Amino acid sequence: MSTEPEYRPGLEDVPAAKSAVSFLDGKKARLEYRGIPVEVLAKESCFEEVAWLLIKGDLPTQKQLAEFDHDLRHRRAIHYRLKDLVKCLPADGHPMDALHATVAALGMFYPCKTVSDPAKNWDATLRLVAAMPTVVTAFARARRGEEILEPRADLDHSANFYYMLTGKEPTPATRKVLDACLILHAEHTMNASTFTARVTGSTLANPYHVVGAAIGSLAGPLHGGANEEVLHQLAEIGSVENVKPWLDAKRAADPKFKVMGLGHRVYKVKDGRATVVQEVAEQAFAETSRPKTYEIALELEKYCEGIYGPKGIYPNVDFYSGVVYQSLGIPVDVFTPIFAIARVAGWLAHWHEQLVGNRIFRPEQISTGKHDVKYVPLAERP
Ligand code: ACO
Repeated sequence: MSTEPEYRPGLEDVPAAKSAVSFLDGKKARLEYRGIPVEVLAKESCFEEVAWLLIKGDLPTQKQLAEFDHDLRHRRAIHYRLKDLVKCLPADGHPMDALHATVAALGMFYPCKTVSDPAKNWDATLRLVAAMPTVVTAFARARRGEEILEPRADLDHSANFYYMLTGKEPTPATRKVLDACLILHAEHTMNASTFTARVTGSTLANPYHVVGAAIGSLAGPLHGGANEEVLHQLAEIGSVENVKPWLDAKRAADPKFKVMGLGHRVYKVKDGRATVVQEVAEQAFAETSRPKTYEIALELEKYCEGIYGPKGIYPNVDFYSGVVYQSLGIPVDVFTPIFAIARVAGWLAHWHEQLVGNRIFRPEQISTGKHDVKYVPLAERP
């Protein structure tokens, strides 16, 4: 009998860590952060509180939240040479690439060289949560030749992000929808970028490398990059009437065609976060009006349900989040960076957890290559 371990592509159903940060039941669409349903947090809480909850393990006391909020507000500003760096990046580059580059540089300006000092680890945690929105908005503005705006300590995390991006303070409805989206994207058990963060953290790399690696993983279209792809897809469809002909043509050309924003390794029903995004979006649309892309997305969901529903493929969180961001006037290529400025809370929670009793990740492989191959000197090769 073979003793070779079973290979599971994509590590499906293979536990990669023990974690108390979040819980997901994909059959019931139940997601909890430290035991609290995410729907409740999206409605009742704010991003700062959720970040603390994820990283520290419990809801903060009033005093803890006030101090945490204060500490974040005072770490939003970035070194002027980091702004110079952002200005030097190619204006047509992707904001995720700019974020990736700048987070690495952030670690050079505000170093956390070893991970053995809890005070330094905490400072880097605050710095990453606080400064990533500054970095994202700095590039988003600088590439258009606009002035980089200084963070405002009188605004909360979401409102300040919106202000730094657009130069305007958000309305209460806009702030709420943005804050809810940050909460809903803050953590999601052992997804690809969180796994990346834990693997990187297990080498005792510094937290800027941990978050940088996770940003790279998030950028792909099968993960965080999907929210941007959904908008391109909706633009290509163009109208509610074209949903059916568009999808029929795509499936005829490629039976394995993937609708962006649908499907998930764990969920076999509609992602509960997508439903919450829709609820808060409806409130925001009351101020603006329902965008055409939202109507197209609703029709696409309806048509896809009949085709993909029997396979358990339903909208994930990114099916509607991009539509919402676009309605707030946010450029399409900034959607995935917004995902990153939310998910950094989850990445850091997992990083702190990984450091307790850490063991470096070193999985096995099933070798499929050749053995004992004779080396032929270059001169003897054709
Ligand atoms: N549209 C159509 N069919 C799909 C879709 C989709 N979006 N997603 C999965 N399927 C089908 C596959 O073709 C496959 O069919 P088959 O069994 O006939 O071969 C089956 O469902 C399983 O699909 P896999 O890709 O093997 O599932 P996996 O669990 O590996 O991937 C993933 C999950 C990557 C999310 C996938 O559903 C996908 O590519 N979705 C589109 C991209 C997307 O929206 N990503 C965001 C994920 S959520 C997040 O990161 C926030």
